[in-house]
Amino acid sequence: MADIRNIVILTGAGVSAESGVATFRGPGGLWEGHRVENVCTPQALFRDPELVHRFYDERRAKLASVEPNAAHRALARLDQKWPGELLLVTQNVDDLHERAGSQRLVHMHGELKSALCAACGNRTDWEDALPPETECPDCGTPALRPDIVFFGEMPYHMDVIERALARADLFVSIGTSGAVYPAAGFVQTARHYGAATLELNLDPSEASAWFGESRMGPAGTLVPAWVDSLNRNLG
Ligand code: APR
Repeated sequence: MADIRNIVILTGAGVSAESGVATFRGPGGLWEGHRVENVCTPQALFRDPELVHRFYDERRAKLASVEPNAAHRALARLDQKWPGELLLVTQNVDDLHERAGSQRLVHMHGELKSALCAACGNRTDWEDALPPETECPDCGTPALRPDIVFFGEMPYHMDVIERALARADLFVSIGTSGAVYPAAGFVQTARHYGAATLELNLDPSEASAWFGESRMGPAGTLVPAWVDSLNRNLG
């Protein structure tokens, strides 16, 4: 433990499950009753923009009724106390990590509370419904879309993430099924560079075999226990 200075933490939908945000691969593989390819691909946005925009409007509106849970709060405590490098990489598009107080955070799959202009590429903070053909406040083109990384699009912040993985002494994955790349491959990258690897998840994931240690259980219990053990070592 004394050798750990730089930490990279990857979170997925499981970290927000106890806040009441649905995971992606729920019953029947549906996400809130939809097949992922009907709401989370560039083709879907082209074919049926009304459906895709409405879907993300509903997810954005839902944020008003959910709160960070014990896992988000524990990760924020760690961020505030940890003297070494720390990067929290979330695949989640909710804002629960930042509402809990995490600052060293990147959203690799985008954010519900942001709109992206398909014409000029600028981003705008967005709280309300976002109908198709909303005008971009920067360039005026009616081309604002949800700022979500769809399947087939390049995740955000990959340069920052890869640099952090190369320097990590510890990589921790929390509440993710390990089904979606490149995030599912971060454990292999971290191992390649010599990091210890720990998984905290409700069930064994598709990536479990890659981790030095896997602990199974709800994030709201496992994450505070892990953070407290690290903080105890800080003295
Ligand atoms: N605590 C810990 N883990 C949990 C909890 C919980 N309370 N509840 C569920 N889990 C675990 C599940 O066992 C599962 O392994 O969280 C994982 C959630 O998996 P997914 O629904 O596949 O979510 P995620 O891994 O974040 O998906 C990755 O896929 O659809 C895309 O872009 C989307 O970012 C998303 C990506």
